[in-house]
Amino acid sequence: MKPVGVLFVCLGNICRSPTAEGVFERLAAEAGLAHRLRVDSAGTGPWHVGKPPDPRAVAAARARGYEIGHLRARQVEPADFERFDYLLAMDRHNLAALEAFKPPGFTGHLGLFLDFAGVRGLEEVPDPYGGGPAGFERVLDLIERGAEGLLRHLRHHDLR
Ligand code: 4NP
Repeated sequence: MKPVGVLFVCLGNICRSPTAEGVFERLAAEAGLAHRLRVDSAGTGPWHVGKPPDPRAVAAARARGYEIGHLRARQVEPADFERFDYLLAMDRHNLAALEAFKPPGFTGHLGLFLDFAGVRGLEEVPDPYGGGPAGFERVLDLIERGAEGLLRHLRHHDLR
């Protein structure tokens, strides 16, 4: 069976989307579903390509037991719309950038990651890059909620 592809997308691919990748990978592994999923992350911007995640994101994730330090940033590319079934943006700005890239034949799901959190009013994972440590904790709180909701959705729709 072809794995379901999930791509998390933010701006730099060094804070939010690698965190989402790490959190969701672990959740899927704990649920025994890792082999049914193909999970990755990418950024809409080019600035940090090839770099590891921001040390603040690595430390915050590690404090909750997620290891993301081995990941390396890359930029979204057109082939991502063929390789992945779900392209999930961290905020509206990232979503707009992806919409501009989207080929006409794309049949997958392009939307906001937090739509799967199922919490009214929760839409964006705010960019923590220019802020303090609290921003990285908030990113993790939101991503843990979103990841649970996403896995629940996939169980009901794609992983039955
Ligand atoms: P991310 O955070 O999109 O969550 O990876 C950012 C990282 C870098 C920049 C902006 C946001 N930057 O402008 O370099």
